[in-house]
This record gives sequence, C-alpha cells and structure tokens, in this order.
Amino acid sequence: MLVDNHKRIHDYLRISLTDSCNFRCQYCMPDENIQCLPNKHLMQVDEIEKIATNFVNLGVNKIRLTGGEPLVRKEFREILSRLSKLPVEISLTTNAVLVHKFIDDFKAAGIRAVNVSLDTLDAETFKRITKRDQFDLVWRNIQLLLKEGFRVKINAVAIEGVIEKEILDFVEITRDLPLHVRMIEFMPFEGNHWNSKKVITATQMLKWAEAEYDMVKLKDKPHATAKKYKAIGHEGTFAFITTMTEHFCGDCNRMRITADGKMKNCLFGKDEMDLLGTLRKGEDIEPLIRLSVLKKHAVMGGQFNKSYKDTETTQLENRSMIRIGG
Ligand code: GTP
Ligand code: 5AD
Ligand code: SF4
Repeated sequence: MLVDNHKRIHDYLRISLTDSCNFRCQYCMPDENIQCLPNKHLMQVDEIEKIATNFVNLGVNKIRLTGGEPLVRKEFREILSRLSKLPVEISLTTNAVLVHKFIDDFKAAGIRAVNVSLDTLDAETFKRITKRDQFDLVWRNIQLLLKEGFRVKINAVAIEGVIEKEILDFVEITRDLPLHVRMIEFMPFEGNHWNSKKVITATQMLKWAEAEYDMVKLKDKPHATAKKYKAIGHEGTFAFITTMTEHFCGDCNRMRITADGKMKNCLFGKDEMDLLGTLRKGEDIEPLIRLSVLKKHAVMGGQFNKSYKDTETTQLENRSMIRIGG
C-alpha cells in the first residue's frame, strides 16, 4: 500500500500517454507551436505495462489515461488492451474528437466511464478556444457515448468571458440527458496567463445557477474532486471542482506519471521521479515510487501557502497542463 506522511492512501494513478493534442486550447497548451516529445522519450507500450503493474502491485485500483489527448497516441489500442488485463478500473479523460473510432475498444477493455473536456456549448466559441471547428463532432460523440451506455462527465474549465454567458446552458444540458457536468476553476500552469482575477469561483457560479434553478447538494464520494449538485428534476448532475477556492487535498489519493515517465506526487508538485529512466537502467522502480509518495506535501504541492488571490504565477514552478496530463 502507498501511504504518505499525512496518512493518505494512494490508489489512483493517472497515466499520460502523450504530450500532443489535436486541439490548441491556450489554458493548457500555451504555445501553439509547442514541440512534442520525440517518441523515444515517451514510455513505450511494454514500459507503460510494467510501470502500471508495479503500481497495481502497490495497491492502485484505478487508472485514468490522460494526455495531451490520449486517443492521438498511435499505440492507444495496444496500451488499453494490455492495461485492461490488470485488476483495476480504467477510465480516460478525452476531448472526444476521436471517440467514435474507439467505442468497441473501450467496451472490450471494460471501460464504463469517460470524462470529456468541453468548455463551451457554442460552436463559434469552441472554434476560438480550441482553434478547431469540431464542436458538432464532439457533441455527437458525447451523445454516442451515452447511447452506448457509458457514464459521461463533462469537464468545463470556467473561462472568464465565456462561462458568464453559458453557465445556464451547461445546467440545461443536464435536464434531459444523464450528463454529469463539472465546472473547473481556472488553475495556473506554466505559460497559461493565469492570474487570480481570471478565476471565476464556484461560489459565483453556483449563485448564477441558483438564480434560475433549484439546486440541491448531493453527497460526494470519498476522494471526489468535485462538489456535486443537481437541479431538481434534472436527469444529470452539476458539480464544481474548487481547486483554487477550496482545495480537496486532505482526501487526495492521486499520483501521476507524465508521458516521459516522470512520477509527480501532486498536480502542483515540483518533485519528479524518473521512473522511466530507472526502468531503462534495469533497476527496480518501487523505491522511487515509495519515495515520491513520502515526499508529498499536505496541500497543493506546497506551492500555495496563501489564498489563491495572493498567488503570483512567477512564484510557481510547474509544467504546462499538456505536459502533466491534468
Ligand atoms: P473522476 O475519476 O471521474 O472523478 O475524474 P477526475 O476528476 O479524477 O479526473 P479528470 O481527468 O476528469 O479531471 C477533472 C479536473 O479535475 C481537471 O481539471 C483536473 O486537473 C482536476 N483534478 C484531477 N485530479 C486532481 C487532483 O489530484 N488535484 C487537483 N487539484 N485537481 C485535480
Ligand atoms: N485549469 C483547470 N482545468 C484545466 N484543465 C486543463 N487545463 C486546466 C486549467 N488551467 C482540465 C481539462 C481537462 C482536465 C484533465 O484538466 O479541461 O478536462
Ligand atoms: Fe492532491 Fe495535489 Fe491535487 Fe491537492 S493539489 S488534491 S494534494 S494532487
């Protein structure tokens, strides 16, 4: 079992399969011409399988595949098929553009839930944010996932200037569809032009929603990243990921591996353990995994000592989101 110095059991692993993406969202990939890692620096299929197996032997029971965009990884099918043989729940976070090509693979691997990143319900705004004209395809794929029986969560980063206009539309899509919408407070990462004034808080968003809908608080599952509500009478739910205003580190069970095989013990953690390099030297990676967990800070990677309002990005040290995997 992987237990840190704050008695938190770590049983959820997020594996980034690639640092490339078919979208160009600024909050995630600051430089449109970002250089992706050469393939030889990425964990290869066998290496992903070995590293994941190590974690499963140490008590991991949930693996989430992330990116960049995980479905652009050439070997996605093979990786999924190998990981599906492990005794873990597998899920993924995707922009959904390629989802229609993988439905059968998801089913064969026993995936039951898919998280889709979608920050706007307006096709023109979508084009502006992602630099791709693919809203209709994404929306069709969300419906396809529902039709095929997957549980679907929508991750919407609360983007200033967008969410003020669209928050009620996001509640509205939960009326007749069993969608689980999660509004995410904007977080700082390298080069994403974050500043505290751009954070639209969950409290503010809830107020906007409550002006139109009767919102009830639902019980949250252990380790949940989101605080869940429901508009009375709606099929789906509506939640907030409050990293900036009310962190949920006390209950954290998450570890991450970047596409180049570095272990991060926290989304905001500075420490990186080179699991891939160690594996390639033929050495045991378990001591490094344990060390990484032991070094984990109680709160936000030890990088936010004050309120988010007093945080300057110049004080933070982290990769961009696309290089972490969310
Ligand atoms: P579920 O397993 O369905 O609950 O998904 P998840 O919330 O663990 O993962 P997802 O990839 O859908 O992430 C949704 C949002 O939550 C993203 O903005 C993530 O960056 C954020 N998030 C996920 N894990 C953590 C975490 O450990 N800490 C913080 N602060 N944010 C996280
Ligand atoms: N702040 C909050 N959430 C973000 N994501 C990417 N960048 C940010 C950011 N700066 C979200 C994506 C994806 C998830 C893994 O992380 O929308 O759904
Ligand atoms: Fe866990 Fe770090 Fe996220 Fe807090 S910020 S919930 S400690 S990963």
